[in-house]
Amino acid sequence: MSEPGFVRFDEVSVRYGEGAGSVLALERADLSFARGDFVCIVGPSGCGKTTMMQTLAGFLAPTGGAVSLAGKPVTGPAPERGVVFQQPTLFPWMSVAANAGFGPRMRGENPAEAKARVERWLRTTGLWEFRDRYPYELSGGMQQRLAIARALCNEPLVLLMDEPFGALDALTREHMQEELHAVWRRTGMTVVFITHSVEEAVYLGTEVVVMSPRPGRIVERIPLPFARDESAADIRAVKSSPDFIRARERVLSLIWGMQHDA
Ligand SMILES: Nc1ncnc2c1ncn2[C@@H]1O[C@H](COP(=O)(O)OP(=O)(O)OP(=O)(O)O)[C@@H](O)[C@H]1O
Ligand SMILES: [Mg+2]
Repeated sequence: MSEPGFVRFDEVSVRYGEGAGSVLALERADLSFARGDFVCIVGPSGCGKTTMMQTLAGFLAPTGGAVSLAGKPVTGPAPERGVVFQQPTLFPWMSVAANAGFGPRMRGENPAEAKARVERWLRTTGLWEFRDRYPYELSGGMQQRLAIARALCNEPLVLLMDEPFGALDALTREHMQEELHAVWRRTGMTVVFITHSVEEAVYLGTEVVVMSPRPGRIVERIPLPFARDESAADIRAVKSSPDFIRARERVLSLIWGMQHDA
C-alpha cells in the first residue's frame, strides 16, 4: 500500500524566541512521503533535524506551515507517533517490563494483550531475560534497546528516531541496525530516522533527505535501493558493495559541498 503524502511537512518553519535574539531553525521545509517508507535525515549539526522531528512528534508547534499524518493535522503528541531520543529516557523506578508496557497500561489496554506485546518486543530486542531488572542494571546499549522496545509496544504508525544509535559501540550499533531493519520489514511501519552517520542512513533508508545548514531546508532527496533488497542479507557485504559506496559518496559530497560553500 503506497500513499504519497502519508506524512507531510508543508512549508514548515520554526523560529525559537522573538525579536533580535530569535533563531530561525527551520525555513519552509517541504517534505512528504509514503506509508512504509524509511526516511533518513542527515545534515550539519544545528541545521534543524531535531526541530523538524519535534513538529511531527507534536512536541513543538511550527511558527509557519503545517504537519500532517494520514491526512490529519498534527496538533500534539499521540501514541500513533512513537519517539526514540538519542539518550534513552526511561523510568528509573520501573522494571524493564513495566517500562516497556507503560504506554499500553496508560491507555488501559487489555492486560493480557499488553503483556503479550511486551513479551514480543522484549524478546525481539533481546531483553526478555532482563524483564525484572531496573534500568540502572542495564548497559547503555541495553537501555537504548529498551527505549526502542517501549516505543514499539505502542505499535505506532510512525516511529521517530533521533540519533538512536549514536551512543552505542560499533558492534552493538550494527546489530541494532539489523534488528530495526527486521522489525521494519516485518511490520511495514513508517520510520523517520535522524543520524550523523551517512553510512547508517544509506544502509537503512529507502531514501536519504539532506538538509542545509541553519535555517534548515530540504536540499536533496536521494532514493535508495538497499533497504528493500530482500537478497541483501549480509550487512557487511551490502556496505562494501560498489553501489553502496557510490551512494554513500554522493551523500557525503553533498554535505561536504555545503560546508565548503558556508
Ligand atoms: N529550545 C530551543 N530554544 C532555542 N533555540 C533552539 C532550541 N532548540 C534548538 N534551537 C536552535 O535551533 C537550531 C536547530 O536545532 P536542532 O536541535 O533542531 O538541530 P539538529 O539539526 O538536530 O542538530 P544536531 O545534529 O546537533 O542534533 C540550532 O541553532 C539550535 O540552537
Ligand atoms: Mg538533533
